[in-house]
Amino acid sequence: MKLRKYFEANQKLWDEFAKINYEAESYRTKEFLQGATTLKSIELEELRDVKDKTLLHLQCHFGLDTLSWAREGAKVTGVDFSGEAIRLAKQLVETTGIEAKFIQANIYDLPDVLDEQFDIVFTSYGVHCWLNDLNRWAEIVAHFLKPGGTFYIAEFHPFLWVFDWDAQDFEIVRSYFHSPEPLMEKVDGSYADSSVRMEPTEDYEWAHGIGDVVTSLCSAGLRIQFLHEFPMMCFPNFPFLKKREDGYWYYDNPDVQMPLTYSIKAVKDNR
Ligand SMILES: C[S@@+](CC[C@H](N)C(=O)[O-])C[C@H]1O[C@@H](n2cnc3c(N)ncnc32)[C@H](O)[C@@H]1O
Repeated sequence: MKLRKYFEANQKLWDEFAKINYEAESYRTKEFLQGATTLKSIELEELRDVKDKTLLHLQCHFGLDTLSWAREGAKVTGVDFSGEAIRLAKQLVETTGIEAKFIQANIYDLPDVLDEQFDIVFTSYGVHCWLNDLNRWAEIVAHFLKPGGTFYIAEFHPFLWVFDWDAQDFEIVRSYFHSPEPLMEKVDGSYADSSVRMEPTEDYEWAHGIGDVVTSLCSAGLRIQFLHEFPMMCFPNFPFLKKREDGYWYYDNPDVQMPLTYSIKAVKDNR
């Protein structure tokens, strides 16, 4: 019951965020419509050849990255539980003529509504904190992969969970470790555009350490090929990060560097 309440609140939040984010400069919808990719160099270089592969994008938001993979040649399906995000994704399909399928579903309900397996399951940046159960999530990833298929994630590093989001430097305020009860926060605007205010609402987020992520994937039968950690992130989650020419945001102290992003590639072996 409580879980349903958390998911309903988060879904409402993401319906509001989708409307704001679609218009927000940082999401680059306009550039995408002019032909730009919204994928970052990390996933483009590490996942590489997606041509003619079927790709399932979990938590696809309003589909910019999903459709960018389609521009790279993948046959894409995007899933998100926000009805507003999926409506906007379908609108982008109409506008651009890019071939794609979008499904509105909670990740945990997806096996009930989608009966297909994929060459690639992809997910990225800001996904795990919305999920209460990573073991079940990893089982779902494995369920939708064909034997021999590839799973890939690029995500904000869970170590960042411990820091105050609004402080002027890294200040530890939270425990790193997973707790079954979510952290509740009151939100009245999107991270993507602080100038737009929305009706205050609650969100519920869960911490998951890097060990939880890796162990959930191994337990679901996936073989991890790499776990990479990076000292930069694609979004300024902290106000004091500095943008460099490569488009990524860095902590400016060369003597104190920490992992801001990680990526994992894993395969479902033929058995
Ligand atoms: C930060 S976005 C991540 C996508 C992408 N990297 C981006 O920034 O646009 C998180 C997405 O997860 C979706 N989401 C959160 N919880 C979900 C759930 N349980 N099932 C499906 N989608 C979910 C939200 O609607 C949102 O679109």
